[in-house]
Amino acid sequence: METKLSSEYWQNRYLNAQTGWDLGAVSPPLKAYASQLSSQKLKILIPGAGNAYEAEYLHQQGFTEVYVADFAEAPLLTLKQRLPDFPAAHLLYQNFFEIQDTFDLILEQTFFCALNPELRPAYAKKCAELLKPGGKLVGLLFDTTFEKPGPPFGGSAAEYRAYFEPYFHFRTFAPAYNSVKPRAGHELFMILERKAI
Ligand SMILES: C[S@@+](CC[C@H](N)C(=O)[O-])C[C@H]1O[C@@H](n2cnc3c(N)ncnc32)[C@H](O)[C@@H]1O
Repeated sequence: METKLSSEYWQNRYLNAQTGWDLGAVSPPLKAYASQLSSQKLKILIPGAGNAYEAEYLHQQGFTEVYVADFAEAPLLTLKQRLPDFPAAHLLYQNFFEIQDTFDLILEQTFFCALNPELRPAYAKKCAELLKPGGKLVGLLFDTTFEKPGPPFGGSAAEYRAYFEPYFHFRTFAPAYNSVKPRAGHELFMILERKAI
């Protein structure tokens, strides 16, 4: 049954081409971050990946351990068509909160803001659980509020800090300087390192 923010809701957004968040290309801050990674063997998760242009970029750069997760099937099928040699086993058609694996790196972009804000503490905890000790959560968070009801749901750096502080060291948590134009001045770039527990 479709309810707001259910997998059916998101699947229908793709089927009806109501995907205003979709950049149609790799996000510049994530591209810049990925381009300086030293090992192509890093095991990387992109949750709520949608059309996953970041996965495409990493795949083209020779990264072999890239996983994308989404509980809407449509974008995963699109990715499969776009990248026939992307490993099928790396397309995780499942709820983020049910993924059982560990990764070196999680890349965040417009997934956190798509979740019901009540799930934010659970998102921070789940990211920590999915990361190996020293693993990193890297990506973008909206540093703004939206007039229309979400998704996307906005917030502030101070609010977000409280969710991540129990599990992560903050290496970078600052306004992004290379956002796409429509998001310029409204995004934080974060590099959070999982604490040893
Ligand atoms: C706003 S879209 C962003 C997609 C992509 N990150 C991008 O930037 O284009 C949010 C995505 O998260 C997915 N999603 C939402 N909740 C999810 C959950 N609990 N588990 C897995 N995917 C989820 C949706 O299906 C949708 O593809």
